[in-house]
Amino acid sequence: MLKKTTYLTHSYEAPDGHTLASYERHGGYQSARKALGMTRDAVIDEVKKAHIRGRGGAGFDCGTKWSFMPKESKKPHYLVVNADEGEPGTFKDRTIMERNPHSLIEGCIIGCFGIGAHAAYIYVRDELHLSKERLWGAIREAKAKGYLGRRAMGLDYEVEVYVHTGAGAYICGEETSLLNSLEGRRGEPRLKPPFPAQYGAFGCPTTVNNVETVAIVPTVFQLGGDAFSRLSDLHGFNDGGTRLFGVSGHVKTPGVFECAVGLTLRELIYDLGGGILGDRELIGVIPGGSSCPVHLPDEVVNVADDPRFEPYNGKSILDLPLGVETFRAAGGMLGTCCAIVLSDAADPVLAIHNLMRFYKHESCGQCTPCREGCGWIDRILTKIVAGQGSIEELDRLSEIGSDITGNTICAFGDGAAQPVLSFVRKYRKNLEDYVLRGGKSQTGRLEL
Ligand SMILES: Cc1cc2nc3c(=O)[nH]c(=O)nc-3n(C[C@H](O)[C@H](O)[C@H](O)COP(=O)(O)O)c2cc1C
Repeated sequence: MLKKTTYLTHSYEAPDGHTLASYERHGGYQSARKALGMTRDAVIDEVKKAHIRGRGGAGFDCGTKWSFMPKESKKPHYLVVNADEGEPGTFKDRTIMERNPHSLIEGCIIGCFGIGAHAAYIYVRDELHLSKERLWGAIREAKAKGYLGRRAMGLDYEVEVYVHTGAGAYICGEETSLLNSLEGRRGEPRLKPPFPAQYGAFGCPTTVNNVETVAIVPTVFQLGGDAFSRLSDLHGFNDGGTRLFGVSGHVKTPGVFECAVGLTLRELIYDLGGGILGDRELIGVIPGGSSCPVHLPDEVVNVADDPRFEPYNGKSILDLPLGVETFRAAGGMLGTCCAIVLSDAADPVLAIHNLMRFYKHESCGQCTPCREGCGWIDRILTKIVAGQGSIEELDRLSEIGSDITGNTICAFGDGAAQPVLSFVRKYRKNLEDYVLRGGKSQTGRLEL
């Protein structure tokens, strides 16, 4: 159900919304004061009750992740905030950093305390200049007020927050590449285990969280974990609270909207996104960044043997509430919850070619199936688009996608395979027609 909220976005339209004065007018830093008066375990329990599913794409429960950090350790602990935001179609984290940076700084204070860290690094994609400027500004203001520093919030606990600039590589959004890059190494994923909670930044216990995951934590302490969780409409799925939903592509009013968890794609596209651009026909939607499988508008939910899906079975995928578990069970992926909408102005053949060029360019090259596979897929699609492809090569695309899946060190491989596997399966007829027409696009449009 469409339920707009303003926990993160209350100050988005205010010219001074990024300042400490504005943040404090909305009760800013009271949550950190409350959390630092609790025990570490109590902080983690509160976050667990909130059922915040990681907003970076994988949807792992935030409180559970925090609980993996060692209780006793001789090494320093770190909180690392993933502000790389390189996923095509995803542009929500930058709105927080630009327009409400203090929510992230306050989230860092609570997060550091919860995991026993005294330093947080916010790893920001290089291109996000305003985000970096606003974060540094917020850090300066919070330090001057005594919220950060040797005695954070005036209490006996040190917290420092630093902004680290990335260099604009998509793979550096993958958490272990990010850690390598933060350390000044080549941004290549690490083998897991050991997981970052045991061996993260500089070989020390580390929690890596997405910007939005951390920035919503102060709201949890403002409302209480249970109350925050209950804001969600997805009862029974441990997917709590509110989140930012993005919509882009062929809609009339693309943007970022804050709503209770449980919004549907139909509501996101038609109520928030204003409907399809030019009132054309909807032909597909990728729910959460380009690494998720595409859905056709006539897909129907059919999840047998799970009573929680009773209200949704037989309904259009557009009416399935957007949740980590709901979309996983329906054969898709929620990802970052930033949907890419395709109308019939887009040719799906050109769209998948465009996407796969991106993955070929961004593969770090460490794992053979991903390095070679993304290159092969790109070359086959380039041939098809040039009118030199064959029907057999469509099957080859699926074979290569399947061979990449599950055979790489990090999830980039699966993320690159999902679009091609789902496009070939769901737009098979468009691809075959394209091959038989000898490479002429139906729309002549290259855009997604
Ligand atoms: C290729 C790749 C790129 C990623 N890019 C991002 C990113 O830009 N931002 C992000 O928060 N997570 C990204 N992730 C997910 C992170 O690895 C990690 O799961 C996330 O930062 C954890 O935070 P969360 O639990 O709060 O969601 C990416 C993963 C992969 C495989």
